[in-house]
Amino acid sequence: MWFNKYSYLSGASSPSRCTPKAYVTWLLKSKLVKTVMILYIIFSMFFTPIRLVAYLFATEVLEPPEPSVNFMLNAIPRTYETNSISPLSEMKPSIRFSKMHTYLPHSLTDNIYPYYFRADFEPDNNDVTVAAYITPNRLDDLVRLADIWQGPISATLHLPLRPKKHDDEYIKDILDTIKHLYEKNQNISMYVDIHLIMGPYSTTNTTLQPVQTNIHMNTARFFARTEFIFFLDSDTWPIPGLRSRILKHNDLLLNNDALILPTFIFANNDAKNNYEFPKKKLHVKKLVQSRLLGLKNKGWELNNGPTCLKKWMKSNELYKVENYESHYTPNFVIRKTGRIPWCSERFENNKAACLFQIYLSGSELWVAPKEFLMIHQYNSDSHLSRYEESKWQRAFNSRMYSTFVRETCLQYARRFSAIGKWKSPIADHVKQECERILGGWGVSFNDGYI
Ligand SMILES: *[C@@H]1O[C@H](CO)[C@@H](O)[C@H](O)[C@H]1NC(C)=O
Ligand SMILES: *[C@@H]1O[C@H](CO)[C@@H](O)[C@H](O)[C@H]1NC(C)=O
Repeated sequence: MWFNKYSYLSGASSPSRCTPKAYVTWLLKSKLVKTVMILYIIFSMFFTPIRLVAYLFATEVLEPPEPSVNFMLNAIPRTYETNSISPLSEMKPSIRFSKMHTYLPHSLTDNIYPYYFRADFEPDNNDVTVAAYITPNRLDDLVRLADIWQGPISATLHLPLRPKKHDDEYIKDILDTIKHLYEKNQNISMYVDIHLIMGPYSTTNTTLQPVQTNIHMNTARFFARTEFIFFLDSDTWPIPGLRSRILKHNDLLLNNDALILPTFIFANNDAKNNYEFPKKKLHVKKLVQSRLLGLKNKGWELNNGPTCLKKWMKSNELYKVENYESHYTPNFVIRKTGRIPWCSERFENNKAACLFQIYLSGSELWVAPKEFLMIHQYNSDSHLSRYEESKWQRAFNSRMYSTFVRETCLQYARRFSAIGKWKSPIADHVKQECERILGGWGVSFNDGYI
């Protein structure tokens, strides 16, 4: 018999007569089977009570069912007649707009005319739009920008409509001038969208000429027709071909990071001088070394500031801004959508506030290694170049900004902790900035606190 060979496995002697009954009896007596059964019983004795306790005391977590594809594709049926009952459907665009821009006076939200002049060129979504603020007495600057940029420009024009004189000759003249410009200049008609805002710039002094504010920049961004937005200061000029070079960095922009463009100024900047701008980094380096040109960071002395001239001169690769400071106001490119926040409209013109929020939201700031911009005022006597805040205005703004910085810190800290991202790298900038800022409050700001 074949199993006779293996009889050493069993303690019982093998059945002498091989009937099925005898075989089973033999099997039950075998040592191996006994051991297996004992092990099984011991295992069950431990396993069963554990399962029983888990069953009796655990509250079962039900996973929400995955929505089926059909559900996602079909609109959720409403239980009411949309057109007659929902206040949302009756909301006028101007009311929606005022909800989105809560700090904007109603006199302005009611008087926004997007694409009052519309460019012929339909840009690719994957292009960069310059967000610009234009004034009637600097249309030549707009022409200059369109000539160099050769790509989409989303411009806001603010005309101070006087409440009682709707058929203001002044406004009619300006709009006629611009219309004429669109007819005769191809670069303008091709690339520039103008969004018109009418309304008093100041409620106390209706003769004041409007200057650029965060509201204007948000409007230009909102109506831009591409995914990337370039926040370019007035009197600052791109180098020819910059647009396609920015697009090479679209990976980092899509990743919700910001691209910083270093900005240079002639040491002896004078509107009367007709400087020839450097076209390549090599030229810039030579001019900087001979002290004819300097890196400009608003609020810092020439060649100082977070953009870091030393690094830029050496670098051939993108590098991160390391000494970020909440007053840093460079020219930068960002995504239009994604998770990039809008500029806070509580301020008038405060680009630093825009970048501060972007930085806290987790975006990295990368400095372009080869690209750069040039500052030069062609219209030094325009009201924009001469604009200076009064002393009380400056004091007011600086107080408001320091409050904003603290508030924004807490807001982002709370947001990241609420969505469970406090420990992820996205919250690093909040930790870094807020520790410094809230340190002054005597609050320690570490993981335990949150
Ligand atoms: C448009 O811009 C290009 C490039 O700068 C320039 O060569 C051309 O003369 C401009 N066209 C007009 C009509 O100004
Ligand atoms: C309004 O602003 C203009 C221009 O700055 C100024 O000349 C004028 O004095 C101001 N009027 C009042 C009432 O403040």
